[in-house]
Amino acid sequence: MSEIQRVGVVGCGLMGGGIAQVCAQAGYETVVREVDQAFLDRGMSGIQKNLDRAVSKGKLEESERDAIVGRLQPTLALDDLAECDLVLEAIIENLDAKIELFSAVGKLCKATAIFASNTSSLSITEMAAGTDRAERFVGLHFFSPVPVMPLVEVVRCGQTSEEAFKLAYAFAESLGKSPIACGDNTGFVVNRLLVPYMLDAIRAYESGVASIPDIDTGMRLGCGYPMGPFTLGDFVGLDTLYHITDIMYNEYKEARFASPPLLRRMFLAGYHGRKTGKGFYDYSDDEPVVSDFVK
Ligand code: CAA
Repeated sequence: MSEIQRVGVVGCGLMGGGIAQVCAQAGYETVVREVDQAFLDRGMSGIQKNLDRAVSKGKLEESERDAIVGRLQPTLALDDLAECDLVLEAIIENLDAKIELFSAVGKLCKATAIFASNTSSLSITEMAAGTDRAERFVGLHFFSPVPVMPLVEVVRCGQTSEEAFKLAYAFAESLGKSPIACGDNTGFVVNRLLVPYMLDAIRAYESGVASIPDIDTGMRLGCGYPMGPFTLGDFVGLDTLYHITDIMYNEYKEARFASPPLLRRMFLAGYHGRKTGKGFYDYSDDEPVVSDFVK
């Protein structure tokens, strides 16, 4: 295990909850901070459900589950992060909110603590520059669903020290993940390739190439992908995809990163995928069907 013993995870949504779960599973004392009791309760009950499912499948002993839950310290108080050796944020994809958070946390935490962001597209360099410890700032980008996906992108920027990078890399390995090293280029490795692919799928649909289910089936059966691009978009969240697209387009000014009109309209209409019950598909029944927005 690395020198890191106590981890702070800020944000307990889809990503933060998954990250907190894998940290506690790997043996770290894990403080999970949310801004709102209802968000915190929802995130913690998601973790509990995942662990209960593992117990019912015989993959985890009840005593292990209870020990994992015992290592999680849910809180609304930022002060509870003071003793953490690593503080990892997974809050909304908004640069100002992230900089404000790290500025507050910087006043609480020891100088040796490492700060990390799970951002998928914002600049690590810009976030690091807004803190009191740019040399101890990294990106740790996890993939959804976090307990299942083995990859973590470990991002270093120009200011990151070799020591902090190595610690962060070893930390990702200690979670049982397979890290890759990335520079601070918007989208890092995976989203730089994945986002244009998903946007192209939407453009293909818009120009009448095939139906949404047929494009999904094509990529699943033709390429062996576990989900087609529309199912994946709904799974990641079309609000998240739209925001990433916006950030990537602003950075690169290349047409392949620009949001297709349909994605923007679905975002504006609140068709955000699984999380809102409707996106490209409607999840009201057991079997998803194409949603009314794109029928
Ligand atoms: N949380 C926790 N565990 C989950 C889960 C979830 N949301 N969904 C599935 N699982 C677990 C199941 O419990 C099951 O565990 P066991 O093998 O231990 O029994 C395992 O995953 C497989 O699940 P299923 O058999 O139910 O379903 P599946 O075989 O269809 O797999 C999947 C589900 C893992 C999600 C698979 O469909 C998949 O890999 N999809 C692609 C996911 C992907 O591409 N993620 C990256 C998104 S991009 C991103 O995250 C980056 C970004 O910045 C936007």
